[in-house]
Amino acid sequence: MKVFSSIKETISYLEQQRITEKSIGFVPTMGALHDGHLALMRRAKKENDLLVVSIFVNPVQFNNADDLKKYPHTPEEDTKKLESIHCDVLFTPNAEEMYPETVTKQYDFGLLDKVMEGAFRPGHFNGVAVVVKKLLDIIRPDRSYFGEKDFQQLTIIKKMVAMEKIQVEIIPCPIVREPDGLAMSSRNRLLSAEERKVAPFIYKTLQEAKRRRNHLCANQLKQMIINIFEGNEQFRLEYFDIVNDETLQPIDGWNDKIGTVACVAIWLGSVRLIDNIRII
Ligand code: PAJ
Repeated sequence: MKVFSSIKETISYLEQQRITEKSIGFVPTMGALHDGHLALMRRAKKENDLLVVSIFVNPVQFNNADDLKKYPHTPEEDTKKLESIHCDVLFTPNAEEMYPETVTKQYDFGLLDKVMEGAFRPGHFNGVAVVVKKLLDIIRPDRSYFGEKDFQQLTIIKKMVAMEKIQVEIIPCPIVREPDGLAMSSRNRLLSAEERKVAPFIYKTLQEAKRRRNHLCANQLKQMIINIFEGNEQFRLEYFDIVNDETLQPIDGWNDKIGTVACVAIWLGSVRLIDNIRII
């Protein structure tokens, strides 16, 4: 595996690879890799000649300084995992390399970033869009892979790619879960043993929402699920919303023709977890 921290060296290496018309599959990450990340990478490796992964804990997408400080770093383990799946190139820049100047770009995503994560983490999606645009410009992949775990992020990245007219195929990948249903996340390592034990409650409650969909109207279902989340004292609910999978706006009733996803953000101790489930 080639490892680069310099933008210039990465561009020049990939330039040489492109001469022989090798296709490039790219998976951007913030490291602390788990099987959810690896599933994206295995798919990218299978569908392209070269697998490129980036690890960069992007400071401009953290609206909370403490969250950035706490974000897990496991560089040695990450390298081993990447080697085990035969990753071809790892790009790990530092913040000075990525941001020699202060970021001033402001995207207008309309209503997409006014709800859910966007409402609770101001500036977060602008920071995500800025870094993904920069990474796509450097790597210039044929395909880039993103997890449906971060459903709103995926929608906003598709929008950014269309707005910027970037030539890349954005490939959504299903959520990878632990055997007990907890969605894999780098943040799961921050849970205490006790918290880890109760964490599957989140997915169990989302499954309950899916099961009840035929028996309740959308608003009743939403209120019922909020009551279940709020009734569990170990958790603190931030939001639970049932949204149109394209506009991300809350639906006002069921419509079988409209893709519908239930999304949650919830605190378990000092760890903020997100998850979602497709309802329609
Ligand atoms: P990170 O949280 O490291 O996630 C990298 C990619 O892995 C994202 O596309 C995310 O949706 C996907 N992923 C994470 N957990 C997953 C799971 N359990 N199942 C499937 N996919 C999963 O998301 C980011 O980093 C950053 O915002 C980034 C896009 C790299 C920009 O900085």
